Amino acid sequence: MSDDKNNSGFYITTPIYYVNDVPHIGHAYTTIACDALARWHRMRGDLTRFLTGTDEHGQKIEAAAEHRGTTPIELCDEVVQNFKRLWGALGISNDDFIRTTEERHVRVARQLFKTLMESGNIYKGLYEGWYCIPCETYVPEAQVSDDGLCPDCGRPLSRMSEESYFFRLSKYQDALARHYEEHPDAIMPRARYNEVMSFIKGGLQDLSVSRTTLKWGIPVPGDENHVVYVWLDALINYISALNYPVAGEKWETYWPHVRHIVGKDIIRFHAVIWPAILMATGLNPPVRVFAHGWWTVDGDKMSKSKGNVVDPFEMADVYGADAFRYFLLREVPFGLDGDFSESAMVNRINSDLANDLGNLLNRTLQMIEKYRGGKLPPASVFDRAKDIDIALGDLSARTLAEMDSRMEDFSLDGALKTLWALVGAGNKYIDETSPWKLGREDPDDRLDIVLRTLWETLNISAMLIYPFMPGTSAHIQEQLGAPLDMSAELLSNWSWGGRGGDVFVKKGRVLFPRIDVTKWKEEKSARDAAKTAVMETLEVAPAAEESGRFEQIEIADFKKLEIRVGLIESAEVVEKARKLYKLGVDLGSEKRVIVSSIRDFFTREELVGKRILVLCNLKPVKFRGIESDGMLLAAEADDGGREIISLATVDDGFPIGSLIH
Ligand code: ME8
Ligand code: MG
Repeated sequence: MSDDKNNSGFYITTPIYYVNDVPHIGHAYTTIACDALARWHRMRGDLTRFLTGTDEHGQKIEAAAEHRGTTPIELCDEVVQNFKRLWGALGISNDDFIRTTEERHVRVARQLFKTLMESGNIYKGLYEGWYCIPCETYVPEAQVSDDGLCPDCGRPLSRMSEESYFFRLSKYQDALARHYEEHPDAIMPRARYNEVMSFIKGGLQDLSVSRTTLKWGIPVPGDENHVVYVWLDALINYISALNYPVAGEKWETYWPHVRHIVGKDIIRFHAVIWPAILMATGLNPPVRVFAHGWWTVDGDKMSKSKGNVVDPFEMADVYGADAFRYFLLREVPFGLDGDFSESAMVNRINSDLANDLGNLLNRTLQMIEKYRGGKLPPASVFDRAKDIDIALGDLSARTLAEMDSRMEDFSLDGALKTLWALVGAGNKYIDETSPWKLGREDPDDRLDIVLRTLWETLNISAMLIYPFMPGTSAHIQEQLGAPLDMSAELLSNWSWGGRGGDVFVKKGRVLFPRIDVTKWKEEKSARDAAKTAVMETLEVAPAAEESGRFEQIEIADFKKLEIRVGLIESAEVVEKARKLYKLGVDLGSEKRVIVSSIRDFFTREELVGKRILVLCNLKPVKFRGIESDGMLLAAEADDGGREIISLATVDDGFPIGSLIH
């Protein structure tokens, strides 16, 4: 299909993620997909480079830092660790991690900007329009709703007017259209190609590429009141990480083979603006921009305010990184939207992993141990192979070839389906050849062939599974007694029966124990209850916290809050809930029960006798079956990675029940 069938360069990138967000399933998804592709290409022997990183400039970070009373770089240094830790936890094999605050990036961004100014591709003008701060983008007048909300995120827009540098995007309209007509694979999947093409043909306007309204960015060379527009800054990461414009090996090996994987939300930045910038610079546009779909969660849009954001750390912790990776890549055709639910994941773990793959491995190893003392019969037994044995060998070879072509198309789910057809064929082969009968009576001397055939099927499966589930692959290889050299060109060197010498299998722990659905439901509702408790008792206005900006409200809004002084009379531990206290609070005219997740922070003795502030007219909620009627007010802070809280209190002896104004 494309320019690099054999042993050439393969450069794959994720978007660089905003550091003002905690990593969630969406970030995990893109990065896991890139990881699988990178690992596949390394197995092909391609010169592979896999880049991810973080997008650290812009208004959001500046505002968030101000809100927290730190400097932007301190905030970035701290939160970038969340992403780095997550990639460790998910087995991500990125070769580089770029941060847009690094000197190597800033230098390239400034240089590129300067070159574009000198070539007349960037000029100075005046910009006025509606700006969405959370999305870091101007919204075209036509898309602004009557109530002045962002069409993408629904949050209020701000009117901005500024002197600005512009990139001559309009000049590249025809060149872009022509490029995509000649390279229909350059944007995938097809629906996204069509979307981008009609956007381009609808007419491109010059793009504002600098800002004067914020400080936290890369200064424009020669005009330091301006900082480079955060999206241009961000896109440049793909070349600054290759040390552009130094014509070194890195640059020459990888840039001609660059593929960007992004979520469909940011396809235009990557398939319109970025290629135009590259063309203006005299560089080749990306070989491919692939946009995957969006995950909803249990049928709902994922959002902090809904409290349904899927935490990938938790998923890896509860289900294992490999099962999580497998589910994300297998469940939804890559390129389409999908819905995430833990119950769907449990189903797949039980059927595909525990049942299909796990059984093939267990049954095979058990029989080799039982009938052959763990020693693998030599490949020479294949001299006497029958059609049914040969068929499995042929299917293995076809599986490899078909997976390679699926991976070439970024059909990750398709590749996994292909592999599971082989696993299924292996299980069927066991049923058809009934080796346990051969173990008792074997006039045709078949058992050796059958066992070796099964072992070979598992051996190639262990190899082909590696890009998707690297840990599982290693475990299977170990149990098969034949660890592969993952740095070798495995795909082209594989052959059926190719492994010589003595091999001893070693049945180890069960790869994917079946999940008992009843127990799982209990465990999940306990997890959910703990999360709700934390959410409801500690967090305030997540949407506002997210951007660091609180909307202005009327005094009437504040007057809706009934906040009174209460006296904590008792504090009891709530059974089976690690963080909860059940508090008895005297509000003067009445006594209330309030459940609060503050056990990590206070002893019971510290609480009893305190005069605290209570939000009284909050709708009651149940925690662990106990109705909580009201909410304690507290200040929350991060003390060098450790959460600390302080209850809002009033002076000793102040009258209980007093209203806060
Ligand atoms: O956009 N489902 O960063 P970002 C699937 N910094 N994928 C999702 C998702 C969901 N619900 N939510 C997010 C930015 N993603 C810019 C990029 S690149 C030069 C600059 C994934 O932190 C998806 O890959 O908002 C999306 O493109 C990316 O997270 C956006 O991450
Ligand atoms: Mg985003």
